[in-house]
Amino acid sequence: MESKIDVMNTKEPEKNFGAHTRRTFLKSLGTVAATAATAQVNAVADELQKANNEQVMGPGAVPVTLKVNGQTLKLMLEPRVTLLDALRNYSSLTGAKEGCDRATCGACTVMLGDTPIYSCQKLAIEAQDQEITTDEGLADNDKLSKVQQAFLDKDALMCGYCTPGFLMSVTALLKRNPRPSAEDVKRACAGNICRCGPQPRFIQAALKAAGVETASKTEVIDYV
Ligand code: FES
Ligand code: FES
Repeated sequence: MESKIDVMNTKEPEKNFGAHTRRTFLKSLGTVAATAATAQVNAVADELQKANNEQVMGPGAVPVTLKVNGQTLKLMLEPRVTLLDALRNYSSLTGAKEGCDRATCGACTVMLGDTPIYSCQKLAIEAQDQEITTDEGLADNDKLSKVQQAFLDKDALMCGYCTPGFLMSVTALLKRNPRPSAEDVKRACAGNICRCGPQPRFIQAALKAAGVETASKTEVIDYV
């Protein structure tokens, strides 16, 4: 008669997958999971350490240095002050306009380096160490920039309030693409709103500034 011990010993032997048994495979899975978890914990600890090392600024005014139109601007600003606010209300640079103050209209456009940005959406403190260009920095003394002159020549402004934003967007476009098409101009100015209708003239002005033959009237008028 088969003893109880014999029955227990009839258990199917551990399957052998190549050099590994099921047990060693499961054990190794546990090791990998533990290693991954430890790596995550270490990463979080590193981030916390970095955050703890960061200097807390504000809420009071702190010194902020901006490089605007080739000049150094030293201001005392609360860290919450936007670049637009710093330019318009803490210095005399009122070229960038405040329209919506919520990243919709583009009237506040300035360039950070060669990139057009909404200055109402950038903290002044974050714009330190970067070259900022506003409309005041486009002309060379009394000589208007090509873009400014072309806007005048093509009568591409009505209220004028949104125009500084268009000038900056077009200037930035011509820096990265000196020979744009009408379509390129439309795309570059997609973040600038004008409600009174001279959009075809903006395009003609941009193309004139680039020395590009004016596109067909239909192509330009298709803007709206
Ligand atoms: S004021 Fe900045 S996008 Fe309108
Ligand atoms: S020119 Fe300013 S809204 Fe049209």
